[in-house]
Amino acid sequence: MNEPMADVRDMYMVHTMMHREFELLPRLVRDVASGDTARSAVVARHAERLCHVLHLHHEGEDVILWPLLLDRGGAQALAIVPTMEEQHHGIEAALELVNMLLPAWKSTTRNGEALAGAFQVLFDRLLEHMSTEENEILPLAEKVVTAAEWAQLGEHSLSKSSKKDLPLVLGMTMYEGDPEVVRAVLSHAPLLARLVMPLVAPRLYASHAKRVHGTATPARVGRH
Ligand SMILES: [Fe+2]
Repeated sequence: MNEPMADVRDMYMVHTMMHREFELLPRLVRDVASGDTARSAVVARHAERLCHVLHLHHEGEDVILWPLLLDRGGAQALAIVPTMEEQHHGIEAALELVNMLLPAWKSTTRNGEALAGAFQVLFDRLLEHMSTEENEILPLAEKVVTAAEWAQLGEHSLSKSSKKDLPLVLGMTMYEGDPEVVRAVLSHAPLLARLVMPLVAPRLYASHAKRVHGTATPARVGRH
């Protein structure tokens, strides 16, 4: 009975990262000069990474979180989970359009305006979804999902991510993360990662942001 319940602050932290980075994408695409494929390759690689993070994040919720909530969250869950699933479908459809346009744009800069528009639609849908999730789902999850079950969400993403990309994605997330929440997330990591990542990950993100955004300190969304 005394099992610790989910600490959902890590979800806010990931949402803040996605909010910041997806909001910047349409402009990043539009700013690439026609034919500048060196630059489109840099922006596209950044976008591919983010899309993969987003896809895994939602896949984890579909597979782990919605079933738990439907099982235990009563009428409140029954009322909101279908909306969440519908929003996920809308986001996946936007992601599909992005995935259709991105490879050609990456290698030729062709159809940049269409790609930027697809990223805008993706961002608008994502923002609406994250805000519904924060208002309706996270308060419920805190009540009915245990800490051990909640940890499966992070493990789902970890198990399907490229290990090479993890330090950068962590740095991206730490950029606006509360240090206490970062420590809690890292407390599940192996000792070496726990010691090294707080130093390495922010530096990796700073140099990545410099290359992609033109500054090591992109504007913070600063919600949490
Ligand atoms: Fe989420």
